Amino acid sequence: MNSNSFPPLAQRSLQTVWHPCTQMQHHDHGVPLLAIKRASGAWLYDVDGNAYLDAISSWWVNLFGHSHPHLVQAISDQAQQLDHIMLCGLTHEPVVQLSERLAALSSHRLGHAFYASDGASAVEIALKLSVHYWRNQGQEHKHRFVGIAQGYHGETLGALAVTDVPLFRENYGAQLGQHYTAASPDLRQAHSPDEHPPVTAKALQSLEQILESHHDIAAVILEPLVQCAAGMQMHSPDYLRGVRELCDRYQVHLILDEIAVGCGRTGTFFACEQAGIWPDLLCLSKGITGGTLPLSVVLSSPTIYQGFYDSDLRRGFLHSHSYTGNPLACRAALATLDLFQQYPVYELQKTLAQALDEGLHTLKLHSPKMQHLRRCGVIWAFDLDTGPARYDHQGFARRFYRSALQQGLMLRPIGNTVYLMPGYLWGTQEVEHCLNGLGQLLREYA
Ligand SMILES: Cc1ncc(COP(=O)(O)O)c(C=O)c1O
Repeated sequence: MNSNSFPPLAQRSLQTVWHPCTQMQHHDHGVPLLAIKRASGAWLYDVDGNAYLDAISSWWVNLFGHSHPHLVQAISDQAQQLDHIMLCGLTHEPVVQLSERLAALSSHRLGHAFYASDGASAVEIALKLSVHYWRNQGQEHKHRFVGIAQGYHGETLGALAVTDVPLFRENYGAQLGQHYTAASPDLRQAHSPDEHPPVTAKALQSLEQILESHHDIAAVILEPLVQCAAGMQMHSPDYLRGVRELCDRYQVHLILDEIAVGCGRTGTFFACEQAGIWPDLLCLSKGITGGTLPLSVVLSSPTIYQGFYDSDLRRGFLHSHSYTGNPLACRAALATLDLFQQYPVYELQKTLAQALDEGLHTLKLHSPKMQHLRRCGVIWAFDLDTGPARYDHQGFARRFYRSALQQGLMLRPIGNTVYLMPGYLWGTQEVEHCLNGLGQLLREYA
C-alpha cells in the first residue's frame, strides 16, 4: 500500500501540507493520512464516511468531544461581536472574565494571567518570567532550569532546551541552552506499590543534589502527575509535595506545566491540587478551549507579578504575541469552563474510569504482553512487550496506528506505550467500541 491509494484529499495534502511530527516519506510507504470531513462528539468521519473513535481527544485537547454545541454557539456569538483586538493598551470582557475565573479556580494563589496561543509559547513565557524575575531582584546568576528526565515541554528552542526526549532534541543540540536534568519519579520503576515511596525518594534526592550543587538555577519545571509525551509516565503526588519543599528551601521557582494534565484530565481541575500545593507559575493550554481554538495561559503568583511592577519599562515583561488574549479563544475558554459547571464532570469521569478499568483489566488477563497497566484520572496507558530493546518502537507505533484505524479507532502509541485520553463525555457506546477494538488489536499482537 502506498499514498496512491489514499483519498484524493489526502494525496493533495501530501503535495503542499508539511504535517507536524511526521517523516513525510512514511506516508508514501503506507502510513495512513486520514482525510477527515467532519467530527461530532467522540467521533471523526472521513471523506468516505468511515467513523473513527477519537480515543486520544485529538492530541489531548477535545475534552468534551468535537463541536460541542455550547462551544460552537459561544464562538459564533463572539465572532459577531468582537473578533480580535491587540491586548496591549486595550482589553475586553472575555479576557477579563477568563482571568478572573482562572484566578478563582486557583483560590487566587495564581491571580495574574499572561496569554499566548500554544503550549510551547506558554512554557517560553514561564521560563522567561522566572529568569527575568530573578534579574529584577539583582540575582542575574539564576538563569538555568532543572527539567525532569523524559520531560516534554514543546518544540520551540527554549521549551526544547528543558525537554528530555532525544528524538526531538538531537538535531538542534547546538541551539539549546544548557540546563540540568533530575531523575524521573516514574512509578514503573517500582515492582510493587510498596516500592513507590523509595522511587519517589530517589527522584527527590536526585533533584536535591542538583539544587544543592548549583547556584545558577532559576526554576524547576515539570509536568505534574503524568509525564505524558514520555509515554504516560505517572508519579505520586508525594513527589510534587517534595519538589515544592525543595524549591522553597533552595529558593527557586516551581513551574508546573499543566498543558496536558490540566483542565480536569487527572480528576481535579489542576493536577497540583491533588498534592495540595501551588507552583509559582502554571502553564495551561490544550483543553482550555475544549479543543476549539488555540490558546495558552501562564498563571503567575502575586510575588512574581510584583517583581515586575515598576516605573522602569525594562523591568516590565515585554513579551507579546499578535494574538495574545484573542477574544474568540477566550470566549471559547469561558464556554469550556461553563461545561465544567453544566456537567458533573468528575462524577462522569468516575463512571468512565470504572468501565474502562474493568474492561482493560479483563483484556490484560488474556494479554500477557500488556505491561504496567496504569491510570491517572482519565488517562490510561500500558506498555506492550514488543520484544528485545533494539526493536523499532517507532515502527511499532506506526503499525499499531494503522491497525487501530482498521478497527475504527484513532490511537497513536508513543513508542510501545498504548494510551487512551478519552473525552469526558464518553458513554457506553464509546467504551464498548474502544474495548472491542483494543481486544482485537491485542489478539493480533499476541
Ligand atoms: C506537557 C506539555 N507541554 C507543552 C506542550 C507543547 O504544547 P504545544 O504543542 O501546544 O506547543 C505539550 C504538547 O504536547 C505538552 O504535552
